[in-house]
Amino acid sequence: MIEEGKSVILDDGKKRFLLLVEDVEEKIKGIGRFNPAMLKERSFGEVITIGSKDFMILKPSISDMMLGIRRKAQIITPKDACHIILYTSIHDGSSVIEAGSGSGALTMALAHSVAPDGRVISYDVREDFLEVARENVRLSGYTNVEFRLGDVRERIDEQGADAVVFDFSDPWNAVENAYGALKDFGHLCCYCPTVEQIERCASAMERSGFTDIRTIEVIEREMVIREGSSRPDNARIGHTAYMCFARKLPKRL
Ligand SMILES: C[S@@+](CC[C@H](N)C(=O)[O-])C[C@H]1O[C@@H](n2cnc3c(N)ncnc32)[C@H](O)[C@@H]1O
Repeated sequence: MIEEGKSVILDDGKKRFLLLVEDVEEKIKGIGRFNPAMLKERSFGEVITIGSKDFMILKPSISDMMLGIRRKAQIITPKDACHIILYTSIHDGSSVIEAGSGSGALTMALAHSVAPDGRVISYDVREDFLEVARENVRLSGYTNVEFRLGDVRERIDEQGADAVVFDFSDPWNAVENAYGALKDFGHLCCYCPTVEQIERCASAMERSGFTDIRTIEVIEREMVIREGSSRPDNARIGHTAYMCFARKLPKRL
């Protein structure tokens, strides 16, 4: 049975929507006017009709949540988030700093990975983005995130972080601050759509005292499985971004 205060996904077969079961009626793009309280005491797997559309109620996985949020900024998708988490060794108990919060998609994946004992500090320069990210993370049910209004190129207040992840247009200008915020051998990831940006990140990392600098791009291709005629999906393989990783080398070495 679905309880008040829990996150659910509504799936119309094309799109997924992340909702929190609470008594608040609102107009949701793609669903219409709806009060999620009507999901109370229904079961996962049930199909409900809202307006003229049918939606299956699903228990959300972390990737469902990331893809089901309301977007204000371009999100980091699950295919890249899982590599960020593994290559930066983020796990239960880690303390992670990210910028910018954007829509909060990566924030959710980070909050999930560091739970229950770790925490995520998420910076954004814009209050309107912070508001969207804060609301999306609230819908996901994670409570181990602190949002901060601030420009990480100017300052990062924290020290001793296990990992720092940057997803904004000029992360090389904040690499020096990431160095100061990380513990020795802590991990930095810069996420950038173009090769020119990644070159600047790698150079800044080298100048600032990072080691083990490497860049990857992840290509993911979904398969259509039908007995006797399985093949890759026709969907175009889209480029998202490059990920440049590095580790903080202590100055004494
Ligand atoms: C592409 S979005 C991040 C998307 C996010 N990773 C997600 O998965 O939803 C980039 C965000 O970085 C913020 N930003 C840009 N420059 C920044 C800076 N110097 N410090 C902090 N945030 C910054 C922008 O306001 C924007 O919200």
